[in-house]
Amino acid sequence: AGIRRLDTVGMRAATAALVSAGTRISLVPTMGALHEGHASLIRRSRADGHATLVSVFVNPAQFGPTEDFGRYPRTHEADVELAASAGADMVWFPEVHDLYPSASVGVAGTPRLGVAGTMHVCAGPTGEVLCGASRPGFFDGVCTVVLKLFSLSRAHVAHFGEKDWQQLVLIRQMAREFHLGVVVRGEPIVREPDGLAMSSRNRYLQPEQRSTALALHRTIEFARARFAAGERSAARLEEALLGAWRAEESAAPRALRLDYLSLREPDTLMPAEQLAPATRLVLAAYLGDVRLIDNAPLGGG
Ligand code: PAJ
Repeated sequence: AGIRRLDTVGMRAATAALVSAGTRISLVPTMGALHEGHASLIRRSRADGHATLVSVFVNPAQFGPTEDFGRYPRTHEADVELAASAGADMVWFPEVHDLYPSASVGVAGTPRLGVAGTMHVCAGPTGEVLCGASRPGFFDGVCTVVLKLFSLSRAHVAHFGEKDWQQLVLIRQMAREFHLGVVVRGEPIVREPDGLAMSSRNRYLQPEQRSTALALHRTIEFARARFAAGERSAARLEEALLGAWRAEESAAPRALRLDYLSLREPDTLMPAEQLAPATRLVLAAYLGDVRLIDNAPLGGG
């Protein structure tokens, strides 16, 4: 059976039928421009034997006014093909008014950015650090749209990538605090052969930026090597990592700029004190105006 490409009305009918037949639904929320990272989430869902629904929606509420909402890649045909080959049953393309029924829409049909004008989820303090510090309101927008995607799809399970570690932590927290009854599953980061974490935004990178972008992965490898060699002080390791990062920046003058680099407790995102295998190194950097993030545990794997 081929994959079904659905609007919101079609998705509602399809999921209602599945739920009454006792089939479990698993949702893979995405913003499209699908790549192998997304495919791994779809394959995982498929392997669990659930009806797999991929949503593709570039969520205006999670972009700041100067961010890349307008130029975010929209590749619907290729997305349907990739989702089908990874084993998805349905791809759902919601419209802005399906998800934001009372949002005002600008003259050219462009949605108002941000969630301030409508009812929304407040991600709270964990949404204000790290990525939330440089992208105010970002996690309010993410949590709000994910809640809407959960309610509309009737999903039992939802799959998220560890690539966006802070997002995964916050979605888990939201599911717990609002008793959503959705099982939130996290899947490992899929990387290019040279180590760059796959991202829809990688396609913005010019060739020389593409190689400079490896600084993020090199910094992760450096941290893991120090930990493997016995380093257990968070303060000392962070110091060494900032030194290694400064060397990366001088090797690529003006091309690379750190947003944050930090060692955190994996489940709370509080600053780590005693280093452990699960301690998470999280980092974000700008290459020109392209912002990339990455993270890894210090041990294991
Ligand atoms: P998007 O960036 O399209 O990512 C969709 C999902 O794919 C997220 O759970 C993300 O963590 C995962 N993902 C992306 N790159 C990955 C990689 N290299 N390896 C593993 N998983 C990867 O994240 C979003 O969209 C949005 O914020 C969304 C949750 C859809 C809400 O709008």
